[in-house]
Amino acid sequence: MQGTEISLTADLADLEARQLYRSRRVVSRREPGARVEVEGKTLLNFCSNDYLGLAGDRRIGVALKEGVDRWGSGATAAHLVTGHTAAHHALEEDLARITGRDRALTFSTGYMANLGVFAALAGRRDLIVEDRLNHASLIDAARLSGAQVRRFRHGDPAAAEARLSTGTHGRSFVVTDGIFSMDGDMAPLGGLSAVSSRHGAWLVVDDAHGFGVTGNDGGGSLSLAGLGQSDVPVLIGTLGKAIGTFGAFVAGSEELIETLIQRSRTYLYTTAPPPAVAAATRQALAIAFAETWRRDKLSELIRRFRVGVEHLGLETTDSDSPIQPILLGEPGRALQASESLFEKGFWVTAIRPPTVPEGSARLRITVSAAHAEDDVDNLLDALADLDLGGARPDG
Ligand SMILES: Cc1ncc(COP(=O)(O)O)c(C=O)c1O
Repeated sequence: MQGTEISLTADLADLEARQLYRSRRVVSRREPGARVEVEGKTLLNFCSNDYLGLAGDRRIGVALKEGVDRWGSGATAAHLVTGHTAAHHALEEDLARITGRDRALTFSTGYMANLGVFAALAGRRDLIVEDRLNHASLIDAARLSGAQVRRFRHGDPAAAEARLSTGTHGRSFVVTDGIFSMDGDMAPLGGLSAVSSRHGAWLVVDDAHGFGVTGNDGGGSLSLAGLGQSDVPVLIGTLGKAIGTFGAFVAGSEELIETLIQRSRTYLYTTAPPPAVAAATRQALAIAFAETWRRDKLSELIRRFRVGVEHLGLETTDSDSPIQPILLGEPGRALQASESLFEKGFWVTAIRPPTVPEGSARLRITVSAAHAEDDVDNLLDALADLDLGGARPDG
């Protein structure tokens, strides 16, 4: 036991020495807009995934409370035992309609959805080809499935094709984030779809950061790319980001959803989420898709931020999404920048390896419809005051 403790102490000290130690900050209060109280300080939150500003919406809160009045606090069991309520079922019908898929199946989290998809669909004889920068849950899902896994250069359909072309295998899958979680750029979905169909592979898109945000009326990155169910047989989305509540879903054909119900271990062997959350999510979806001004405002704020960052000469990625990273390189630089912003009243977490590749630690700034133009301008002023080593064209 003592030896175990010593080795954990050494591990923790090592993380600290490499500036990779992570600590949580406790939020003590949510305030209107994107403001939160943390450690006695009111901060503007510029690193949440609440892109449409719905997480604090009173109407969704009321739906949650009414859901509790009707259903109580818990689902009582897994979906296939006694946990699947009319609230869950109606949410799945809403999601199928919104995504234009035959059916949808809800999962407790996006992480579990991704594990569940590959546990159900892939095995030892199959091949999973995935973008190097895919979210950790997709990487883990592929590994756990036992399939052969090959990763391809970020955003490069030709590299994906080369990986598909070698060796023998059963089913094959091309797997990508729709909008990349740490870079904010969009996957080349048209190219990946063409490659997938040439090789008879299934294209799987995790649109956790695109659903509700981008595309026609928030339909996500597939709607932007004009791809439907036959092009992308497996669509995954999350509900805890732009939609502002909690949970995730997989959408696709009747057979896909039935297979997941039979075989997804993260669906079968876990308690269903509280039905009140499903009821609240239905209300959140109705608001998210009806209130188009949220996406319009968000686009305008993203544009404003990008113009400002370009003016400052800071290194960013090719992102039109609400995820607007500023690349800083070493973890220490990202930590220091994050700390300085904190002192100035802005909350922007430093993102370090292994969440992002070595040498690409960053500030992952996210813009939300809950921000005002002044909030964005004030953040840009604060970034200008930091010594981030940008080109600063005009000094
Ligand atoms: C691309 C992507 N997929 C899946 C997830 C996991 O979703 P959840 O937070 O619902 O587990 C995330 C982030 O959390 C993500 O960025």
